[in-house]
Amino acid sequence: MIGANTLQEFVVARQADFAGATGDLSRLLTDIGTAAKMVNRHVNSAGLSGILGMHKANGGASRNVQGEDQQKLDVYADDTFTRVLRSCLKVGGIVSEEQPGIIHVDHSDRGLGKGYGKYMVCIDPLDGSSNVDVNISVGTIFGIHRRLSPLTQPAEVEDFLQPASELVAAGYVLYGSSTMLVYSTGGGVNGFTFDPSIGEFFLSHPNMQFPEHSRVYSINDANIPTAVPGIAQYVDDCRSRGLTARYTGALVADFHRNLIQGGIYMYPGSVGKPAGKLRMLYEAQPLAFLAHQAGGATRCHHHDLLHVDPNALHQRTPLFTGHVDEVNRLADFLQRAAIAAGEAN
Ligand code: AHG
Ligand code: MN
Ligand code: MN
Repeated sequence: MIGANTLQEFVVARQADFAGATGDLSRLLTDIGTAAKMVNRHVNSAGLSGILGMHKANGGASRNVQGEDQQKLDVYADDTFTRVLRSCLKVGGIVSEEQPGIIHVDHSDRGLGKGYGKYMVCIDPLDGSSNVDVNISVGTIFGIHRRLSPLTQPAEVEDFLQPASELVAAGYVLYGSSTMLVYSTGGGVNGFTFDPSIGEFFLSHPNMQFPEHSRVYSINDANIPTAVPGIAQYVDDCRSRGLTARYTGALVADFHRNLIQGGIYMYPGSVGKPAGKLRMLYEAQPLAFLAHQAGGATRCHHHDLLHVDPNALHQRTPLFTGHVDEVNRLADFLQRAAIAAGEAN
């Protein structure tokens, strides 16, 4: 793809691979790149611009729909992405981690007579936000579905509750030692690095694939004793094979490192929290789509997460994602443990 070096050039060049493509998805993806640049600027200067720490509302700490404390940058990233996405004519609805219901996007009041756009965007505007105050990487995760309901009416919950295999695009932004945008529209995974001196994302990681040899396992070690049966045994197995442990507390950063170095990420269900912590629509599904495109696999305990039908906008799910061999190996451990537990009962 000679000449297709910037994100925008690449997205448009890739559009030609799809028969009948209208350019609508390309426009949406480049708008996400624009919002990422805006958030990147704030993340990079957070210590200077007074936007570290908790967001306050009505005199107290503000909480999102999950009951989690919001950081100032959670709120800024949510405002920025939803504002940019709302102005994109191709977007008909948004589900954000930070907002309780569907954000309906009606374009007819802009005199354009088009009603609601055809793409549904699910977004975690700032992933790993507790890392911001300690200057460790954070990210943004997004997934894009084509709506099922007619464009003339507001989107329905069912437009968002589609399996990850039906995503038309997914990706993430990693605000790390450099800022990267990684995305897929189904023909492989490509990574772009932001050049702050020019203000553009440039293709730096074409056709990303999990390395055959896995070096890393990523899990919150404190959760292992209460995790579902099989996890502790699998982690012992990883250690005995010489894999090393890495866990940043930001899913995007852990996934990205494992994609480059080879490995597996785990956030299992536990005794008190059978569904774990991570959210299906805007954390698990986009990464499952990317992992599948990069020679990986993703499971939620006993199922291939790619084909699971979600049942709620803010549903949580256990998440195991990484190179297909590691994910399958873990699945064997979980299955054996479940059978053993069944026999014991
Ligand atoms: P968010 O900041 O969007 O709420 O996501 C935090 C998530 C995820 O990024 C990370 O992998 C996980 O929480 C870490 O959880 P623990 O602190 O329980 O390990
Ligand atoms: Mn998150
Ligand atoms: Mn978040």
